[in-house]
Amino acid sequence: MDELVAAPDRSVAGRETELAEIRRLGYSGAAGRALVLTGGPGIGKTTLWEAGIRLARDRGIQVLAARPSEAEAQFSFSALSDLLEDVDVAGMESVPAPQRRALDIALLRAEAAGRSPEPRAVASGLLNVLRTAGTAGRLLVAVDDVQWLDRLSADALAFAARRLLPAAAGFLLTERTGTSSPVLRVLEPRGLERLEIGPLDFGAISQILSSRIGPSLPRRVVKQIFETAGGIPCSPSNSGARWQVTSLRGSARRSRFRSGWKTCWADVSSSFPPP
Ligand SMILES: Nc1ncnc2c1ncn2[C@@H]1O[C@H](COP(=O)(O)OP(=O)(O)OP(=O)(O)O)[C@@H](O)[C@H]1O
Ligand SMILES: [Mg+2]
Repeated sequence: MDELVAAPDRSVAGRETELAEIRRLGYSGAAGRALVLTGGPGIGKTTLWEAGIRLARDRGIQVLAARPSEAEAQFSFSALSDLLEDVDVAGMESVPAPQRRALDIALLRAEAAGRSPEPRAVASGLLNVLRTAGTAGRLLVAVDDVQWLDRLSADALAFAARRLLPAAAGFLLTERTGTSSPVLRVLEPRGLERLEIGPLDFGAISQILSSRIGPSLPRRVVKQIFETAGGIPCSPSNSGARWQVTSLRGSARRSRFRSGWKTCWADVSSSFPPP
């Protein structure tokens, strides 16, 4: 099949332009490109990032992925453990033994024997693991919410990214607008591309509402939701808030909802009887 007309990803409403951009990551075997999806809370970064991973895997590209959370940012090397979860580091002869050992300790796969792993040995180990895994140029390093990488994982990944030949691996990352990460700073001079994720259009919001709530919603209500939410699909930051379409009257209330759009789709759904 012509890759340019790949089958649409049905779990993603709209976003044709963004998906086309992400799809380009696959053409050269993922290698050589670094793309960060950037945008505000709930705008749809993770949804696109996951679609990018599916696209890469469908093309036989090996994906090393991590989804750090703010709460886990305090745990040293937690993101690195996720990134290398499926990698048999101990069996990689091309990685020098002291680096393999440091990595195994950092990933909690070997006894630390009283000493914490040396960060430089871990970072060098990661570099050599990525070099080994990326020799065929078919490797994608994917991190969702790169700003929440724990410090040691971020430093190790930045160290490796700075030294890795662009041809060895591609990067697909997401970041919340207004945050930063050492990994992005290192990738910047390597031609990091930024894709700003904006609001969804009316058609996409209608599609989401229809798939989650049912096709029976009156168009007037769909329009009201679209206008009030400003095209932002959902922000999970306040799942306690209820989306009450019936209460959307008056411009003051609408603007309050618009600025504080903090309702999950679960809450949206629960505001309506099942279809
Ligand atoms: N294009 C889309 N198609 C279908 N559902 C979407 C789309 N974009 C976002 N959503 C839905 O909206 C919600 C928020 O999306 P997502 O988690 O991707 O946002 P985010 O930008 O990663 O948020 P955060 O900054 O909190 O991590 C999710 O329930 C997701 O399924
Ligand atoms: Mg997200």
